[in-house]
Amino acid sequence: MSEQTTATAGHADPAARRQMMSQVDRIPGSAKPDPILRVDHIQRRFGGMMAVDVEHLEVQRGIITALIGPNGAGKTTFFNLITGFDRPTSAGKGAHWAFDGATLDKTSASSVAKAGMVRTFQLTKALSRMTVMDNMMLGAKDQGGESLAKAMFRPLWRQQEREVRHKAEELLDRFKLLEKRDDYAGSLSGGQRKLLEMARALMTDPSMIMLDEPMAGVNPALTQSLLGHIQSLRDDGMTVLFVEHDMHVVQHISDWVVVMAEGRIVAEGPADTVMADKAVIDAYLGAHHETDLGDDALLDEGVAAALELEVAEEEAARNQEGER
Ligand SMILES: Nc1ncnc2c1ncn2[C@@H]1O[C@H](COP(=O)(O)OP(=O)(O)OP(=O)(O)O)[C@@H](O)[C@H]1O
Ligand SMILES: [Mg+2]
Repeated sequence: MSEQTTATAGHADPAARRQMMSQVDRIPGSAKPDPILRVDHIQRRFGGMMAVDVEHLEVQRGIITALIGPNGAGKTTFFNLITGFDRPTSAGKGAHWAFDGATLDKTSASSVAKAGMVRTFQLTKALSRMTVMDNMMLGAKDQGGESLAKAMFRPLWRQQEREVRHKAEELLDRFKLLEKRDDYAGSLSGGQRKLLEMARALMTDPSMIMLDEPMAGVNPALTQSLLGHIQSLRDDGMTVLFVEHDMHVVQHISDWVVVMAEGRIVAEGPADTVMADKAVIDAYLGAHHETDLGDDALLDEGVAAALELEVAEEEAARNQEGER
């Protein structure tokens, strides 16, 4: 009985997840049945430019949500804000965001991690002059912050360190990095560093993991296994929010997609319907002509027609310029 309850809480059953999300309004800022993260009125200005301007966003617990949008849309800045690596610009309505019911406004990055929400970085932050294993152990320390107290009870600390090391080895094994445990992180490939960063984030047993372009620079073979890892995190009951430009990846693993453009949330919905949304097409075509919107199957006729029109108009404008 309790096992069944756990499975339901983690939404391990894809049909149940689909069913649950099919009830959700496909509009920006829509209410979710059981949101783990709620964000209100968060803004970040850089000089005269509003990089993030999110009125309301809810992230559903126990599913994979993709955050997509053209370059410069504000995705990374948004991650930075809600994980305490940056502060909102104070103006007008007060920004407010809460994770699992606890307010996170003004909370430091390490406290956010302790609350159970961890993130990885678009540009990996593996410490290159440390070994792979030391990077992992540091991941555990980030969460502890009580090493002095522990050091006073050495036997207990030793026992804990053994456990932490064991956990690190299991995670490294899972991410195919165990043979590299004594290598400097700096000697790893870009893709392996991404995996190390993800493994390190998992050292804190988070309830939600936020991944900023986890596949960037990862070779195709590793991408497949990384996708599998992300899905199994979700199947274990974790909430995943990830930023990704590759629409094939988004289509393949997301249960829900949130679209950002010019700092705002402009669309939300399941992957297959969101890519046909006019706001999404405008956002991508406006700023990002070369964006691969994914599989042709994803491009419904409306999108294809819009793309053709755009190209034709550009062509005509160029020709006109040539004639002058
Ligand atoms: N520290 C900063 N100082 C000034 N401007 C910044 C800073 N960080 C980000 N920006 C600007 O804010 C806007 C949003 O940037 P952000 O990196 O959040 O976008 P993004 O959606 O993550 O883009 P990408 O897909 O290219 O990673 C951009 O115009 C960017 O140039
Ligand atoms: Mg970014």
